[in-house]
Amino acid sequence: MLVIALCKGRFLDPSLDLLSRAGIRFADDVASSRKLIFQSDDKRFRAVLVKPADVPTYVEYGAADIGIAGRDVVMESRADVLQPLDLNFGYCKIAVAGPAETRTEARDCISESGSANVVAGFSPRSYSPTVRVATKYPRITLDYFNARGIPVEIISLNGSIELAPLIGLADRIVDLVETGRTLKENGLAVLEVIAESSAKLLINRAGYQTKRAEVLTLIQALEKARS
Ligand code: PRP
Repeated sequence: MLVIALCKGRFLDPSLDLLSRAGIRFADDVASSRKLIFQSDDKRFRAVLVKPADVPTYVEYGAADIGIAGRDVVMESRADVLQPLDLNFGYCKIAVAGPAETRTEARDCISESGSANVVAGFSPRSYSPTVRVATKYPRITLDYFNARGIPVEIISLNGSIELAPLIGLADRIVDLVETGRTLKENGLAVLEVIAESSAKLLINRAGYQTKRAEVLTLIQALEKARS
């Protein structure tokens, strides 16, 4: 029996569809039920439903043998898990964003001064000692600004990140951008893309050795089933 950690929320339906195409089917009510553990019809798998950001933790500690989660949460968690397969859904970007007018300012600065001091709209002209950034990705954000030598104060939020620069809580945000609609409808724009993200198959390192045959069979089935 393999335990699969699945994300609640927008990844759940595409994850269940993919598993179904790979021959792994669960009861119809997984998405609507309040239950957290489901057995597959053939009893070979058990799905556990967890918050997206927790999937890498369940897999790293072996509470789940495998998991499906976005690259964004894997990067943020820094979990030590295997990632053998991209699952071809959940495409989005992790980006620095800010008020749309700062995008123009960033472009102007690039043409005037080259790229050395221009990072996501921060130029000698607009530079303030510390930039406040709201995000649900504090580690990714810290790494990004540290790598560029820009002092940063991180405001950790759990959702509606786009609100922060609109009401003076932060200068910038680091957040997921999928269609770009949330940014646009709130007068914000992407200033710089930090990384591309999509759904990944995660595998526990020890389980990959001790349950090798089962895990490899699953990887092959998912590789065939992914669109
Ligand atoms: C995510 C993300 C953005 C939005 C981006 O939020 O944090 O807010 O989706 O999508 P878009 O580019 O297609 O508009 P989510 O819907 O998960 O809700 P949250 O604000 O609670 O994090």
